[in-house]
Amino acid sequence: MQLLISNLRQLVTVRSGGKSFKRGQEMRDIGVMENASVLIENGVITWIGNASDFTNTLEPDADTIDGSSYVALPGFVDSHTHTIFGGSRENEFALRSEGKTYQEIAAQGGGILSSVNATRNATKKELKKAGSKRLDAMMRHGTTSVEIKSGYGLSEDGEIKMLDAITELANEHFMTIRSTFLGAHALPPEFKERREEYIDLLCNRMMPHIAKRKIAQFCDVFCETGYFTVEESRRILEQAATHGLGLKLHSDEFNSLGGTQLAAELKAVSVDHLEHISDNAIAALQRGSTIAVLLPGVSFFLRNPYAPARKLIDAGVPLAIASDFNPGSCMAFSMPLMMTIACTQMSMTPEEAITASTLNGAAAMGIADQVGSIEIGKRADIILYDIPNYRYLAYHFGSNLAAKIIKNGTILEF
Ligand code: NIG
Ligand code: FE
Repeated sequence: MQLLISNLRQLVTVRSGGKSFKRGQEMRDIGVMENASVLIENGVITWIGNASDFTNTLEPDADTIDGSSYVALPGFVDSHTHTIFGGSRENEFALRSEGKTYQEIAAQGGGILSSVNATRNATKKELKKAGSKRLDAMMRHGTTSVEIKSGYGLSEDGEIKMLDAITELANEHFMTIRSTFLGAHALPPEFKERREEYIDLLCNRMMPHIAKRKIAQFCDVFCETGYFTVEESRRILEQAATHGLGLKLHSDEFNSLGGTQLAAELKAVSVDHLEHISDNAIAALQRGSTIAVLLPGVSFFLRNPYAPARKLIDAGVPLAIASDFNPGSCMAFSMPLMMTIACTQMSMTPEEAITASTLNGAAAMGIADQVGSIEIGKRADIILYDIPNYRYLAYHFGSNLAAKIIKNGTILEF
């Protein structure tokens, strides 16, 4: 099967030159071409160049798109989400509007534990149905790869139900999905006085089962005051590594505890949040390949400080942005919206925001060899926007500008 997109107004390739991520100045190089064409064969990009240089003869049944009114970007790679959950928490949103904080609400029994109740009460089928609808909507907004975490089960059955739902969606849905075991999202109430026992359960029962059935590729921990300590995070992540899981960490969201240094030491794939990252932690990430995944929507939604994106990029830390789509701290999945917030509130340039949402996001999911840029040999995950140029995308915020979604070389119809 061939698909030719010809004569694009602009093609943003985010060319990687074979690298899995960009840092520092490189993040501004997004490889823009004008009047370019892209040939896709069997879902893979096989030719990119000036429209006038395309002289191949197409197969008789080839599809073609006239790209002259479109700007093309790689599909967004959203490397941090909690897309599978039961219930919703608009009551907490209302409380925050009256001045209550996320932590105060959590301390009063809301927060993560409220979603845990609703998720425990949902069947796998219900979780999948709601999840599939959300994935459709994410794709319509230009996201073609997504990481999804467990962490609203917090029991053996509950966590496995979530990871099974995610894995089945990965097999059934067009979206490229990677799943993360986040059994250490919060201490379940029934283990209140038995922290050690819960961590034993995570490490000795859940992890071997999950690794054996390959229902997660990564393991994550919420390292934060009131959740898990740095030492507990170390124990959980070191155990996860022995099972071949990639490592991630929620770190420095409200307090700087040293989790980021731990993530760097353990060569985690990513360390996420970083709203309160210290200079020492920035130094620890500076030369490594652990991706700092920033979540602009969380600071916006919780009225929290923003992560120091400028400082991180200027220090050469590889950086991605993601939505953190979840019912508590960011009920939004639009990656263009995250880019707008990154540009207006975190002083990232539109070019840096694009690299952070595509190639660097793919690196934070371990899939940068397949997606995250428009290059020969990569999968054809390409979004066509009806806009005059790529800078317009984050500039005109609050509406969905995606006109055509091409996933694995297929033009999706919604
Ligand atoms: O990434 N920080 C921890 N976990 C989520 C919030 C989850 C929730 O509130 O349900 C986050 O912000
Ligand atoms: Fe999160």
